[in-house]
Amino acid sequence: MDPKNKVALVTGGGSGLGLALARALGLRGATVVLADRDLSAAQNAARALQELGIAADHLSCDVASAQQVSEVVGEVMTRHGDIDILINNAGVALGGTSGEINLEDWRWIVDINLMGVVHGVEAVVPFMRKTGGYILNVASLAGMHANPDMGPYNATKFAVVGYSEGLQQELAGANIGVSVLCPAWIKTDIHRSALQKPSGNTELDQHRVEAMEDVISNGIDASDVAEWAIDCLQAERFYILTHPEFLPMLEKRHQRVLADYAAASSYFSTTDRA
Ligand SMILES: NC(=O)c1ccc[n+]([C@@H]2O[C@H](COP(=O)([O-])OP(=O)(O)OC[C@H]3O[C@@H](n4cnc5c(N)ncnc54)[C@H](O)[C@@H]3O)[C@@H](O)[C@H]2O)c1
Repeated sequence: MDPKNKVALVTGGGSGLGLALARALGLRGATVVLADRDLSAAQNAARALQELGIAADHLSCDVASAQQVSEVVGEVMTRHGDIDILINNAGVALGGTSGEINLEDWRWIVDINLMGVVHGVEAVVPFMRKTGGYILNVASLAGMHANPDMGPYNATKFAVVGYSEGLQQELAGANIGVSVLCPAWIKTDIHRSALQKPSGNTELDQHRVEAMEDVISNGIDASDVAEWAIDCLQAERFYILTHPEFLPMLEKRHQRVLADYAAASSYFSTTDRA
């Protein structure tokens, strides 16, 4: 998938990783449409990209709404004639310990981080089936390795990885490529998104955001992740991974799964049970 002269829709394109992905695609010749719940952020981001000579457009969209996503896809088709690349990037963070997380907040993050991706896929696939295309879903390393006190975020990101794995196989025959991006910490404003949760904020929430700020500010630049991600998209690499320092952690998880499978193999083998 060469981005040159292609049309790319990037959700959550108004800031952070979405904007960096749009910039990387735009610098490689794509027309980029930034769709964000924050219209003024999307507008400012599109202006900044235009100053770099990129053909950039913007639209308002809350990915939690299937209707809004469908309308945005229709509007991109009307304005630009096609959608070749969809980047399902919009996402929020929500942590906390089980027993203390409001169910309304759980539904909020599921609607954005998981259903937002589903809404994007459902809206573009009918068009992409005609001419082919590429879907990049932004998950996280938290979709491959869970950390404590991040239940809602872990759950939505594992779901995006699993959904993408099945989707890639389903759509391969339709000339629609799929990749899933799983980065660890990137310097963006993601930690602040937790303060938008529907149940409101406590002092503890403010402390959590401040604690996350320290971790996030030591993350890598969104532009480095974006350049690598678009290289991988062009190479049609399925898992887009970053942060090699976390490989031992992932290996440990996989070794644990294999060890428990070995125990199951022993239990279920007919000789052992006879
Ligand atoms: N920053 C990190 O460390 C990190 C690591 C791994 C994965 N990610 C993922 O990267 C993606 C982008 O996050 P970011 O770090 O750039 O955060 P960010 O908060 O800087 O940017 C997210 C953008 O998405 C928009 N957005 C939020 N909810 C939306 C909605 N319902 N509909 C449309 N737009 C919405 C925001 O307005 C914002 O412009 C997310 O899916 C996030 O989970 C981030």
